[in-house]
Amino acid sequence: MMKGALFDLDGVIADTASLHFKSWRKLAEKNFGRSLPDDLEQRTKGVSRSDSLAAILEYLEIKVSETEFNRLAEEKNLIYRDFLKDLSPDDILPGMRDFIEELKNRGIMMALASASQNGPFILERTGLSDCFNAVVDPSKIKAGKPAPDIYLAAAAALGLSPRECVGFEDAVSGIQSLKAAGIVSVGIGNENEVGQADLRFASTGDINYDDVEEVWSEIMNNA
Ligand code: BG6
Ligand code: MG
Repeated sequence: MMKGALFDLDGVIADTASLHFKSWRKLAEKNFGRSLPDDLEQRTKGVSRSDSLAAILEYLEIKVSETEFNRLAEEKNLIYRDFLKDLSPDDILPGMRDFIEELKNRGIMMALASASQNGPFILERTGLSDCFNAVVDPSKIKAGKPAPDIYLAAAAALGLSPRECVGFEDAVSGIQSLKAAGIVSVGIGNENEVGQADLRFASTGDINYDDVEEVWSEIMNNA
């Protein structure tokens, strides 16, 4: 049996993924009078605040000083936090509370492996903090997704090997991170974004334990 479940947060547990890009759009409009195209969102999904800002500035072909870079990152976070001000358990994505509770009842340990520094706040506000045995602090991780570091740290925080775990992701960078870490990957979303995952569900409402356990066992038996 798999022993650990490692979760991304935005777009997997909480309905917050689009709020990040909405915040970046507001920031770009306000500071540079520029709009951001839809396809830039994928490049900012799963990656840290500063890597997202770097990708956006590169798209805009704007160079800024380090001080201005930090100010912009901080302003984006203030915009984002404003979007989160009414966050409640209603913002948990469909089916995820039941799935997390099922894992808990089965004795499977859970860790959060989100790039977001707002992770603990979001878990608190959605009432899920108590379900998690560990929350990785992304500010302590050297290389963010798509590097394997954050998922390796999440497995280690549970005292498990990567092989004993399954990871849940909605972003290309996240699936790449899981693959690099040697962790069975479950993608949530469309083929374009998470088609490389070992198992894919179109949306959180479709996730079920039996399919996840089956794919994990199959991969372990063939390894
Ligand atoms: C990830 C999001 O979960 O967290 C990214 O997918 C975001 O879009 C990253 O940039 C960092 O979040 P925060 O809250 O620390 O700015
Ligand atoms: Mg995500």
